Amino acid sequence: MITGHLTTDRFVITLRANQTKHGMQTKMKAVYFDEHGGPDVLKFGDLPDPVAGDGEIVADIHVASVNGADWKVRQGSYAPVAFFPYICGRDFSGVVTEVGAGADFEVGDEVFGVLPVGQEGTYCEKIATKASVLAKKPVGVSHMDIDAVSLVGLTAVISVEETLQLRPGEKILIQGGAGGVAGFAIQLAKHIGAHVVTTASARNHDYVRGLGADEIIDYNAVDF
Ligand SMILES: NC(=O)c1ccc[n+]([C@@H]2O[C@H](COP(=O)([O-])OP(=O)(O)OC[C@H]3O[C@@H](n4cnc5c(N)ncnc54)[C@H](OP(=O)(O)O)[C@@H]3O)[C@@H](O)[C@H]2O)c1
Repeated sequence: MITGHLTTDRFVITLRANQTKHGMQTKMKAVYFDEHGGPDVLKFGDLPDPVAGDGEIVADIHVASVNGADWKVRQGSYAPVAFFPYICGRDFSGVVTEVGAGADFEVGDEVFGVLPVGQEGTYCEKIATKASVLAKKPVGVSHMDIDAVSLVGLTAVISVEETLQLRPGEKILIQGGAGGVAGFAIQLAKHIGAHVVTTASARNHDYVRGLGADEIIDYNAVDF
């Protein structure tokens, strides 16, 4: 095992890398960048395979989503990243290939989830991450479908259930109803039993109505 020298979890997770008993480091394919910038800084190449630390698993990534925040991370718009090479990507669905001490999964388990705050790196073939943030993929749901739910769905759950603690009969305004997060938030709010008002361009009204919106405001036409 090769381990990074810095002490942040993020750095160690990224640089901990597999070495065979003959000393050869095994590598995975990844999309990464060595400097901030436009799409031209993205590279496709080989980076060290991760290994599982205590409480972690390594998974083969079958699907990872491209999120609206990724280009801002690449460009450095949020803040400079803590290390290079840097791999974007916050969620994945895949299959466990290695289990660290204390991690509650088995090799071969199909898992999905959103990486813990402070960790990114799913635009690649393998990820080492905390087992505690992952769940088993439901049987009958594809890697593609479950990964599409992960980050936007979690954001909607945290917003509507944990933060707002929405109750049946309450009225909620969900901005940008046709968006990734809001599309889930509308369905969740309806499931809870709330009255949902949303904003959307006219071309998306049928779509958000189909998700369950009770009232739709065309924010381009109405100064609400
Ligand atoms: N995606 C994530 O996983 C995630 C996670 C955490 C936080 N967030 C935050 O959640 C927000 C939504 O992200 P998203 O990825 O779901 O966005 P998205 O899929 O790009 O959707 C954005 C929606 O916003 C609507 N919109 C654009 N301009 C508007 C305006 N002036 N007034 C009202 N609506 C407007 C658009 O509606 P029309 O097409 O109908 O015009 C579009 O459907 C962002 O602030 C993002 O930073 C996202």
